[in-house]
Amino acid sequence: MEKITLFDKTFVPYISNARINEAIDKVAARMNEDFKDSKDIPILLCVLNGSIMFTAELMKRLRFQCQLVSIKLSSYDGTQTTGEVSTTMDFTAPVKGRRVIIIEDIVDTGNTIVELKKLLKDKGADDSYVCTLILKEESYKKDEKLDYVGISIENRFIVGFGLDYNEIGRNLPDIWILDPES
Ligand code: IMP
Ligand code: MG
Repeated sequence: MEKITLFDKTFVPYISNARINEAIDKVAARMNEDFKDSKDIPILLCVLNGSIMFTAELMKRLRFQCQLVSIKLSSYDGTQTTGEVSTTMDFTAPVKGRRVIIIEDIVDTGNTIVELKKLLKDKGADDSYVCTLILKEESYKKDEKLDYVGISIENRFIVGFGLDYNEIGRNLPDIWILDPES
């Protein structure tokens, strides 16, 4: 099997770029249906850095008027979540009174989503929705509704399509998983 090495870890192919694109098509179609008659201009909130590729691919498919805003959060160190979410770059535009669609690369424990929803509420956002490309279903135990989910996966570490291992691997077009043999 094809393998790649990032620092000390080996990864094997897991989700192809074609399958990722199919999942994005489906999410976009649902979102277009839900937001087509909007009287407002919803915000697409790109959660940097992981969501950058997903946000770009999703946006191309959206047919309603929307505004792109970013924020940078972090909680992962290597292949483990630290459980603490910190803001490393604040919202790039005001969210007060706006409807916000959070665009996440992956939802794992859900700590990031809970923190984001809290931040949005504190800053006076009107309403918020969650859209994630990947969901680690078994790991997610929070009550926040996940409005749009692209692909559900088992609870294992992955890289590619925006997702990193210590900041590398984000540029890979496919998603790769830690080699169980490594
Ligand atoms: P949560 O707060 O535990 O839901 O984790 C969400 C964040 O952790 C994501 O936005 C990612 O940046 C990171 N993350 C979670 N799982 C993975 C993974 O398998 N690979 C790379 N990053 C991950
Ligand atoms: Mg990350």
